[in-house]
Amino acid sequence: MYSEWIGRRVARIPKESGNLPGDTTSFVGRKHDVARSRQLQGRTRLLTLTGPGGMGKSRLALRVAAQVRRSFPDGAWLADLAAVEKEELLEHAVLAALEPGHDMGQHPLAALTDFLQGKRLLLVLDNCEHLLHGCALLVHALLASAPGLQVLATSRQSLGVAGEHLLTVSPLSAPHPDDPGQVTAAGQSEALRLFADRAAATLGEHALSELGRAAALICHRLDGIPLAVELAAARMRVLTCEQILDRLDDRFALLTGGSKAAPARQQTMRAAVDWSYDLCGPQEQLLWGPFVRLPRQFRP
Ligand SMILES: Nc1ncnc2c1ncn2[C@@H]1O[C@H](COP(=O)(O)OP(=O)(O)OP(=O)(O)O)[C@@H](O)[C@H]1O
Ligand SMILES: [Mg+2]
Repeated sequence: MYSEWIGRRVARIPKESGNLPGDTTSFVGRKHDVARSRQLQGRTRLLTLTGPGGMGKSRLALRVAAQVRRSFPDGAWLADLAAVEKEELLEHAVLAALEPGHDMGQHPLAALTDFLQGKRLLLVLDNCEHLLHGCALLVHALLASAPGLQVLATSRQSLGVAGEHLLTVSPLSAPHPDDPGQVTAAGQSEALRLFADRAAATLGEHALSELGRAAALICHRLDGIPLAVELAAARMRVLTCEQILDRLDDRFALLTGGSKAAPARQQTMRAAVDWSYDLCGPQEQLLWGPFVRLPRQFRP
């Protein structure tokens, strides 16, 4: 009897369809950003999370999508565009994410439009910055043809589509160097929590006893940028917090050796900056500092 009752209750819970990946590392903070994104999603069909590389746009988008997916009977779907090199391949990539077994003979835009017909679905278009023009055209076409579609995009720049709402993703809260409360558990900032989580994952819980004022200063000097904080924590395999702090003046040399599972542009801070630099036109590149402008072979 009890199992029948449970069965009926479970049947009433909407099935969650989609392809969102699960978290493989802890998610830290961002309560306000998650709430704000959800609020904006109630007002717009295209929300773009913008911000510099490594700021946490993709992570935030996946968090928000996972929280709202139950409101989409046809699921929440991720199309990660980072590895899509050419705009000509964009429609294929999105179609492959939504419908891996699609009819290869059909034009991809027509197949996408057919697939989305009558569906209420959230599409997360992740890492759009290198395909801005193509993404803008595609999103515009899909939103016009599929009234039940909602798009959550992440990009270092806005897509520039009519009706797009933007949310700029800011750094995690970072410890203030003069506030001793910041290193105690209760007063921990988001960046320090992230540093502590990643250090503990790498070295074990005993690493937490080493995290004093130096760890707080590292997070402060890295401005709470999640990728930089993670790369710094990874250095704890071989350096103490004090040694990391001492070497932060040369942060491009220090912040290397990210997770092997991370995309190449997130393996080092240098690669994260290069990815943005390479997306700029020649005039925009002049605005970057002389250090970044050095040809690759002359850089440290
Ligand atoms: N709130 C968070 N909690 C835990 N880890 C985070 C958080 N935000 C970001 N990170 C981690 O920081 C790294 C960079 O985050 P993410 O990939 O989301 O940045 P991004 O802004 O999308 O970067 P890019 O512009 O290169 O695509 C990732 O390893 C991610 O897991
Ligand atoms: Mg991203």
